[in-house]
Amino acid sequence: MTDKPWAGRFTQPTDKFVEEFTASIGFDRRLYYYDIQGSIAHARMLARQEIITGQEADRIVAGLEEILTEIEEGTFEFSVSLEDIHMNVEARLMERIGPVGGKLHTARSRNDQVALDIRLYLRDEVKTVLEYLDKVQEALLAQAEENLTVIMPGYTHLQTAQPILFPHHMLAYYEMLRRDAGRMSDLLRRINIMPLGAGALAGTTFPIDREYVAELLGFEGVTRNSLDSVSDRDFAIEFGAAAALIMMHLSRLSEELILWSSADFDFIELSDAFCTGSSIMPQKKNPDVPELVRGKTGRVYGNLMNLLTLMKSLPLAYNKDMQEDKEPLFDTIDTVKGSLKIYAPMIREMRVKAQNMRTAAARGFSTATDVADYCVRKGIPFRQAHEIVGKTVRYCIEEGRDIPELTLEEFRRFSEAIEEDIYDFVTLEASVNARRATGGTAREAVKREIARAREERKG
Ligand code: ARG
Repeated sequence: MTDKPWAGRFTQPTDKFVEEFTASIGFDRRLYYYDIQGSIAHARMLARQEIITGQEADRIVAGLEEILTEIEEGTFEFSVSLEDIHMNVEARLMERIGPVGGKLHTARSRNDQVALDIRLYLRDEVKTVLEYLDKVQEALLAQAEENLTVIMPGYTHLQTAQPILFPHHMLAYYEMLRRDAGRMSDLLRRINIMPLGAGALAGTTFPIDREYVAELLGFEGVTRNSLDSVSDRDFAIEFGAAAALIMMHLSRLSEELILWSSADFDFIELSDAFCTGSSIMPQKKNPDVPELVRGKTGRVYGNLMNLLTLMKSLPLAYNKDMQEDKEPLFDTIDTVKGSLKIYAPMIREMRVKAQNMRTAAARGFSTATDVADYCVRKGIPFRQAHEIVGKTVRYCIEEGRDIPELTLEEFRRFSEAIEEDIYDFVTLEASVNARRATGGTAREAVKREIARAREERKG
């Protein structure tokens, strides 16, 4: 049966291309599981409220469960003329159990049905994103723990700035992802509110029990306004925004991994499993995975802009425009999940080239700030100390020397305040370990943060 459930008021069949153009079954079939779960809960509630009989509800539920099996086994025939997943399932239900199937849609509209489906679906997907985020965080933390003493150059403007611990760098991303997880958990609370019962827009004349449906489906509460229930998509946009931030973070790490794997940096080696070769240059090992994650960030940003623009200025309540919410949302979910999924093992298996990092950290006068800070501790105002060290660096450049190699006499050409103990401050270790306050790169500060992260993850 492919007669449209709404065919009653029409005298002419739908134009074939209009059918194709308006159908969402091509993509919203993805919601089938949630559509069926939502319908089962709705049928149970209808029976409990004596809107339909218990026997009718049992037949409906059994029919829906069979349809679920058909879809999962791939024997269900989706029909474009039935427009979307909701009407496909309903039509098949009537085909299987007869006219009683037509009672399922009592006190419901596709408008509140689709709002319910998206919330159920997104709720599960957010939980998966949270699990995947956690795995990447674990990989970052493990790299930090395994490379506790590795020193690398820290950059600003991509110019060597000050030496830092490699684990400190890993923990920076750990923090970003921790906030991302916080955002996801927070928006999950707003997703997890039950919209069914809004009907098409104004509610329903039947004595439904929305709280019961919410309880059956594990929602935290019910929506408070029927117009808002069917026309709100901000929960999806929020997800899109939080996903965009995850991708932004991954794109930054990706960029660094790409740079670090180049022959020029040579700080890390990505496992072969995450790279590909070149069809012409035999020596090439390309960091495809981070490159693709970096590239895919664009589509997640695009999807966010798509959703925002889709919803802009839409009058209340439901508008067909909103059917367009699904593809960008699905694409964002697939992209962010795929990126996180591949990232965890890639980070885990990344090999750190500690010696190369260290050599690079020693270049570029990375301990110049330490000399300035030293002068300050000897009573010189910071601005003057800055000037002294600036001149020292210029001297080093001209003479082809490095700061730690200067003789005491050379140091003292720039300031009489400098004494023999300067050498205790200009090594990479001394520079790093001097930055001990919370959040600094000193070994003890980093160890504290690792311990804190470990503690958090237990709890
Ligand atoms: N396929 C539609 C969507 O995704 C379902 C709701 C349709 N409602 C309607 N009144 N046409 O938005």
